[in-house]
Amino acid sequence: MTRVITFGTFDIFHVGHLNILKRAAEYGDYLIVGVSTDALNFSKKQRYPVCPQNSRAEIVDALACVDHVFYEESLELKRQYIIDHKADFLVMGDDWQGKFDEFSDICKVVYLPRTPSISTTELIEIVKER
Ligand code: CTP
Repeated sequence: MTRVITFGTFDIFHVGHLNILKRAAEYGDYLIVGVSTDALNFSKKQRYPVCPQNSRAEIVDALACVDHVFYEESLELKRQYIIDHKADFLVMGDDWQGKFDEFSDICKVVYLPRTPSISTTELIEIVKER
């Protein structure tokens, strides 16, 4: 069985999120998703996601293409998460191009093109302007 892992916040779930998860799932038979915790987001961006971690994880877990969800609590633990979940592939959007090449000693690292013209940040801006 080929196991695929990916990571993200998946706040205000949108079609760009759906697309990357569906495409990541095509690399194997079992898709594992690390959903970043509220605390991790706060430490990175000094703001909390709009949707709390349990809601974000519940939405991702409900998708047909997703087999397992866990909380990503720290960026420093990525190597450990990949090992613990026995991932054969790490798949990320190409906004991360090159950033995870250090893990190519333990899994294949793949960057997929982002879906154009949509992001959580953009959605927040659009809603604010209305
Ligand atoms: N992603 C994508 N296409 C988009 C938006 C996101 O493929 N249009 C991918 C990212 O590359 C990442 C995953 O979805 O692998 C989770 O991204 P996340 O940061 O949670 O979503 P964004 O919409 O990029 O959020 P933000 O605007 O806060 O950065």
